[in-house]
Amino acid sequence: PILEKFVDELPIPKSIHIDNGTQLTLGAYKITQKLHRDLPPTTLYAYGTSSRTATYPGPTLLAQQGLESYVRFENHVDDEEPLFTVDRSILWANPKNGGVPLVTHLHGSETESASDGNPDSWSTAKGEHGRTYVSQNHTYANSQRPTLLWYHDHAFGITRLNILAGLVGFYVIMPPRRDDPRSTATVLDDQREKSPPAAWLPKEQFDVLLLIGDKQFFPNGSINFPNVGDSPKTHPNWCSEYYGDTILVNGKVWPYLKVQPRKYRFRLLNGANARFFELTLSDPRILPLTQIGTDGGLLEKPQLVSTILISPAERVDLLIDFSLVPVGTEIFMNNSGAAPYPDGLPSLSPLGTKLVMKFIVVLEQQHEVDPATAGHDNSTTALPAIPSVLRKADPLVSTKDAYWRTSNMTETDDDLGYPVDDLLDNSIWTDPVTVKPVLGSTEVWEFINLTPDAHPMHVHLIQFRFWNQQAFNLSLHLQGTCSFQRPFPDPSSCFTEEPQGPLPNQIGWKDTMLAWPGYVTRILIKWTSQDGGPFPFDPTQGHGYIWHCHISDHEDNDMMRPFQVQPAGG
Ligand code: C2O
Ligand code: CU
Repeated sequence: PILEKFVDELPIPKSIHIDNGTQLTLGAYKITQKLHRDLPPTTLYAYGTSSRTATYPGPTLLAQQGLESYVRFENHVDDEEPLFTVDRSILWANPKNGGVPLVTHLHGSETESASDGNPDSWSTAKGEHGRTYVSQNHTYANSQRPTLLWYHDHAFGITRLNILAGLVGFYVIMPPRRDDPRSTATVLDDQREKSPPAAWLPKEQFDVLLLIGDKQFFPNGSINFPNVGDSPKTHPNWCSEYYGDTILVNGKVWPYLKVQPRKYRFRLLNGANARFFELTLSDPRILPLTQIGTDGGLLEKPQLVSTILISPAERVDLLIDFSLVPVGTEIFMNNSGAAPYPDGLPSLSPLGTKLVMKFIVVLEQQHEVDPATAGHDNSTTALPAIPSVLRKADPLVSTKDAYWRTSNMTETDDDLGYPVDDLLDNSIWTDPVTVKPVLGSTEVWEFINLTPDAHPMHVHLIQFRFWNQQAFNLSLHLQGTCSFQRPFPDPSSCFTEEPQGPLPNQIGWKDTMLAWPGYVTRILIKWTSQDGGPFPFDPTQGHGYIWHCHISDHEDNDMMRPFQVQPAGG
């Protein structure tokens, strides 16, 4: 169905504090929820503290830097089968007694292995468990910088189905309160993030989290996930990328948000299975926008941007100043991202995925301001100017002694030319662990993307940095007549240019990095906690971690590999 745009208000998921030392129990439930005024309620899987309160997206969990938090994840989905068709030709959790395997991962977090949500740590409502299952009780250290993370399902081989079904939610690591005696936070270099809160940052209802994604619906409101695969011979049900024709933000189809003529903070999360968003705002008077953060926290310096490219799982932290336009102005958030990215069809039609949401600038107060917090809050229009330096610069990482790991990213096709899977180093999930970084060491990971598509590469456990990317000649490489070992401009080198460093808005902390086709993408990983110190848990223990492409259709079909951290000096 073609649904009328901008008829529903943007929902703000309810938030729950998990910074008080007590355990929160969060269940996954099967629910129905209205996703658009004219659409019958949609059947979803969703997180909540009870079946009545479960929502898509789930509650926003508020943790505090330096304070552990505890979440117990329960599976209350008692369906016999997942909500969408499982492709049994690809490896998956496959519980003996049926049911829907679920396991929750906190994306972007420094987390001990037992709580990390390894794909094989699933459990079903009937109590069956996967190979690496340890406990439903997850402990989060919150040892890293304040930032927006997100929690989502990660069950082996059906992550794409469970995320599309609604198992996602925001998780915010808030800055430490200096006056909080429980806080063990040692990261005190972000002077401006400490208590009292940075006055220049919009807060409360002016700090808006946006989960952007896409789905397709049947007229009866249920989600259309194709059960016919695009490789009939090898994978009868798996599609190499799921794209919906309808955009949702925070669980509403093409919503609107009334904003006041003042500065807002918007933290964007791309929660789509496969769609890349290339976002712009329709009114040039409020451009450029100011980007202040990336996946892993604030940028050192704010950056002016006009277009935001955000691939699945990435986050972008933005300031938008609506005081630059008259009251009554309507501003559209547009998307021009191609699907597949970057060489597929661009989103051009205003009937479809070209539009994301609408802002309407209004004068009246939209929400009640709690008088108790109004003093701390900057609900008045005049905010101090954005400082030119947001936090202390990160120490330079020396690559002199770095250990290099090179991964070939490939797409294999069957003899009819249909895609079979996407591989990292020609290995599948169950092949032996080959990546064993040593605690404290520095590594360069290079992804050689030999496929036609861009892939958002995600590494669990750490925040890393984008180092550089370098274009190469794919056809010479396929002919075997060039070498990646030879530096540019050697005539026998596959490279066609010098390495290109990050753009200013890519200098910050990342946990998901876009690897462009035809490029080698290099990231820098220091196997320490984000502040350079030790992790507050032992990451060499347990079942290890994983790295994968965050196009969930790819990670479900082999573009995912384990790694195991080794003790130093071992
Ligand atoms: Cu967003 Cu392996 O996860
Ligand atoms: Cu991929």
